[in-house]
Amino acid sequence: MKNSIHNICCIGAGYVGGPTMAVIADRCPHIEVNVVDINQDRINLWNSLDLNELPIFEPGLDKIIERRRNKNLFFSNDIKKQISRADMIFISVNTPTKTKGIGAGKASNLKWIEASARQVALYAKGHTIVVEKSTLPVRTAEVIKEILKSKQNSKEKHPKTSTFDVLSNPEFLSEGSAIYDLENPDRVLIGGENNSAIEKLAEIYRNWVSEEKLLQTNIWSSELAKLTANAFLAQRISSINSIGALCEATGADVREVSKAIGHDSRIGSKFLDAGPGFGGSCFKKDILNLVYLSEYFGLPEVAAFWNSVVNLNAWHQNRISKLITKNLFGTLSNKKIVVLGFAFKSNTNDTRESAAIQICKNLIEEGAALLIHDPKVSCDQIAIDLNLQPYSKKNKESNFSERNEEGNWDSIDSLENAFDGADAVLILTEWMEYKKINWRVTSNKMRKPAWLFDARSIIDPNQVLNTDINFWRIGDGVKL
Ligand code: UDX
Ligand code: UDX
Repeated sequence: MKNSIHNICCIGAGYVGGPTMAVIADRCPHIEVNVVDINQDRINLWNSLDLNELPIFEPGLDKIIERRRNKNLFFSNDIKKQISRADMIFISVNTPTKTKGIGAGKASNLKWIEASARQVALYAKGHTIVVEKSTLPVRTAEVIKEILKSKQNSKEKHPKTSTFDVLSNPEFLSEGSAIYDLENPDRVLIGGENNSAIEKLAEIYRNWVSEEKLLQTNIWSSELAKLTANAFLAQRISSINSIGALCEATGADVREVSKAIGHDSRIGSKFLDAGPGFGGSCFKKDILNLVYLSEYFGLPEVAAFWNSVVNLNAWHQNRISKLITKNLFGTLSNKKIVVLGFAFKSNTNDTRESAAIQICKNLIEEGAALLIHDPKVSCDQIAIDLNLQPYSKKNKESNFSERNEEGNWDSIDSLENAFDGADAVLILTEWMEYKKINWRVTSNKMRKPAWLFDARSIIDPNQVLNTDINFWRIGDGVKL
């Protein structure tokens, strides 16, 4: 097609930008894709010869990188050059919740979006289509347009030589299945005003996405649809977790309730698994964004409704740590708890907003000695998240059992010997390997009375039935 896109630049080589651009490069070998980032270390990892060192773990990502890297997919810090060469620029930088100033704790911090737009305004040449890939508050496109327009009007070197269109094309990928989701999207949403720009972006997706999945809306609907999708998904999890608590109190079983309601085609069966509470970089941030927008536009009841989804999630995490403490006789001092899983879900190394962070902090606060295992999360990352160094780093002797009564933690790479003398095991991430643990053998290694707390509902109760382990699982009020 005439005037098709030949050169794409993506600003931000993170969880969204990296995998998304890898799939575009894979499906569109005729397009050159340049992913740029201000973080030199991250770019070095993307260029690492050892594919195990890629900064992001996603099943299938390494194979695509192997196929396309340095053919039509490039990672660099050369932001200026790649912006100037691009026909289309995706902005995929992070937008964390503001920690201070107006909207602190709720609104998104758009400083990196603004910085990216300013760089585009400065270096882009000819006509450039700017695509919002990051999840953004509604009407952010207006900000980007304003910044780009200021370049067009400016008295700088080459005024009016560059022109822009702005589109919104939110990403719905889910971590852990990012490559599958990108290759088989339920829909691709493109919001914009200029049909020719929309058509050029649609043309890229048509290389692997069928026509009926390409949805076109106005730009504000597209921005709001992304926030709404995440809010609805998170709301389902808070809903089922609230019912789980009720199940535990009444003798019902949340799995049975989920199954029963999920068979109603109007409700559907997905996102009805009770767990330790939702995590991930998006759900909380996006709901707080909705809360802020609602307050800003004078809709306090709408704000309160969505805020309750986040509040329930926080309450639920604290509820889990409290019930563990209660079952271990009200004190965790000198008690060893093996924590299985720290990532916010399986198949990812991402710990952002993971329920494990708050739950582990609470248990440490109660004096527990945690032995944390996760197949993909590093000890250093856990230390950052808990804001506490592991016991073995703080103390010369690494004998975990000889620690004093203060709560502390260590991490382990292997489960061999992990359960020796443990008072409890707590499952927080649904990694496959935890399903294979032999509880009969494990039971013999633990101190009695021993507990297994399964916050992910991945253990078949029959496997624990004839052991000495007391078994608790999320949302289970049925006495086993
Ligand atoms: C995501 C999405 O883009 C956003 O929609 C979602 O709401 C949460 O964050 P993600 O890819 O998960 O971003 O973030 P991250 O992994 O932190 O990657 C962002 C990258 O942008 C980082 O590597 C950072 O160095 C880079 N960046 C940031 C720039 O290159 N330039 C900047 O000005 C700011
Ligand atoms: C989410 C959205 O699904 C995705 O469309 C959007 O682009 C980014 O945010 P992600 O955060 O990667 O994706 O993971 P998701 O699978 O949605 O899970 C989020 C959290 O909810 C995880 O902590 C997960 O364990 C939890 N969850 C999910 C449940 O507790 N129960 C469920 O039934 C489903």
